[in-house]
Amino acid sequence: MSRIREISYDAGELAITWENAGRSELQAIWLRDHCQMPASRDPGNGQRLLNINDISPDIAIDKASLEDGKLIVEFGPDGHRSEFDPDWLYRNCYCLNRQYDDRSETSKLLWRSDSFSETLPRHAYPNYCEQARSKLAALQAVRDYGFVLLDSVPCEPGQILKVIETFGFVRETNYGPLFEVRTRVDPNNLAYTNLGLGCHLDNPYRDPVPGLQLLHCLESSTEGGESILQDGFMAATILRQENPGHFATLSHNWINFRFRDDSADLQSRVPLIEVNDRNEVIKVRFNNRSIDTIMLAPDQIQQFYSAYRHYAEILERAELQVVFKLQPGELLLFDNTRVLHARKAYLASGSRHLQGAYSDLDGLYSSLRILESG
Ligand SMILES: [Fe+2]
Repeated sequence: MSRIREISYDAGELAITWENAGRSELQAIWLRDHCQMPASRDPGNGQRLLNINDISPDIAIDKASLEDGKLIVEFGPDGHRSEFDPDWLYRNCYCLNRQYDDRSETSKLLWRSDSFSETLPRHAYPNYCEQARSKLAALQAVRDYGFVLLDSVPCEPGQILKVIETFGFVRETNYGPLFEVRTRVDPNNLAYTNLGLGCHLDNPYRDPVPGLQLLHCLESSTEGGESILQDGFMAATILRQENPGHFATLSHNWINFRFRDDSADLQSRVPLIEVNDRNEVIKVRFNNRSIDTIMLAPDQIQQFYSAYRHYAEILERAELQVVFKLQPGELLLFDNTRVLHARKAYLASGSRHLQGAYSDLDGLYSSLRILESG
């Protein structure tokens, strides 16, 4: 419970001294825009009813007072009266609260291979389905570490789509609602051969990129074919530490990605490292197979290649790589804007069959918030 000790104001600004601690200095325009009264916000859904230009450019605080623990503000020139709950103001005011970005590197638990000495984030699918606590922990692992393993998932084709329905929605693509990963004659994508695949994020040529990828192992009797994961955010922070100029180059210069076959021609123009308004990493993209012709200003080419090589070299470091072999019944769910994956080569003898599918992060985050608030 937050209480106001005292207030002072002039036409442009209201200052609050809090009993808890701290001081807020709030501009008149922000207070009017954040009015919580029924005339300004729909009482049912909380959505704003006024447009920014409904507020006079001459908005001013005419009077402010404390009544029954509430802050009352009367605005000029229209005489609008607002009541603010001090608790709401304390939790939401821009002086005391930093904007929380749950996609950014600062909200994540960055990892290396030795971060998981005991076990990888792993949950049994039957528990995940039956216990809200287990599901919550699994979805939190995706948010915090960028991946989770579910085991004891029924080895049935199409099961992967049912798993997606437990937290979000299938992101269908030109590959269909799901795709098969097994050796194919005349493949349109190297993923469908038994060659090793270097570390990458999927589909950077899509706009927007699918935020989540799932891989469900149905059969695995080949030698090799281990999966490798890397934390692309960790690698980006190492790049920034080792060479801030290289980090700036990869976040400021946008490049093109492309995928083309007989029926699709997908293109995007995006940075390898995407940052938010505080220069914090929020997405990485890295895919040697689908990077398109690199078109940058002539004076950026050398610097770009130095930075690109440097980031690729960091991603090759063994101390960043988690290696494991997906077993039948295991499903890997990972953040395709953060966690890179690679596959070691495997012998063509024996069978290996995975199904893959995409979903979006916003659906998973929404389910997570609902579970956390339940
Ligand atoms: Fe992939």
